[in-house]
Amino acid sequence: ASSGKFFVGGNWKCNGTRDSISKLVSDLNSATLESDVDVVVAPPFVYIDQVKNSLSDRIEIAAQNCWTGKGGAFTGEISVEQLKDLGCKWVVLGHSERRHIIGEDDKFIGKKAAYALSEGLGVIACIGELLEEREAGKTFDVCFQQLKAFADAVPSWDNVVIAYEPVWAIGTGKVATPEQAQEVHAAVRDWLNKNVSADVASKTRIIYGGSVNGGNCAELAKQEDIDGFLVGGASLKGPEFATIINSVT
Ligand code: G3P
Repeated sequence: ASSGKFFVGGNWKCNGTRDSISKLVSDLNSATLESDVDVVVAPPFVYIDQVKNSLSDRIEIAAQNCWTGKGGAFTGEISVEQLKDLGCKWVVLGHSERRHIIGEDDKFIGKKAAYALSEGLGVIACIGELLEEREAGKTFDVCFQQLKAFADAVPSWDNVVIAYEPVWAIGTGKVATPEQAQEVHAAVRDWLNKNVSADVASKTRIIYGGSVNGGNCAELAKQEDIDGFLVGGASLKGPEFATIINSVT
């Protein structure tokens, strides 16, 4: 396990309305959360301000994406400076939906990570293999390549959390078994040890994402190298998200 705190992020993706988000925030505000856990939620950009102004300070805010550098003539983009202005502390980068649906590549993602970190935002750096890559025995190759792109780009790992999200487990209800997740998490830590440093390997949180819910979180949380979760669907339900946060062992 890493020496850092258990870390649970809720990625709300492109979901919600002012009303549903106000209900979710009030559920989160009234939930009892273990104190020894870092908790972060990533609302859609347009609701960040609403969430920041209503959610308890106990929970930090992440953006789901950011631009690669300073703002300016970049229609449709959101800059790191704007995110900081709204009170965001984190940004999710390299999510499989952005890699595979939007078409972002390692280099573009690395550029965003480097800029966000240089401006003081924490980065939740996502990696993970497609089903066909797993079936072809390429899980480690794919994850290490994505990891290397982050490693080549980032100035420091101090403010980085790695999220392993096997693409076949995202939004499918098909969670990786605790053994499958542990195997990749251990390999990622080993990669950091060999290619970055022993210190970074021991300090960096490696969290799991992909169909985590209130029923399967406890078994996953027991695994040696699982340092938390990145939760999609189940993070839209306040009480269930609280159960996942409180699965810290
Ligand atoms: O970023 C979290 C995510 O991709 C997992 O989504 O809905 O399978 O928990 P879900």
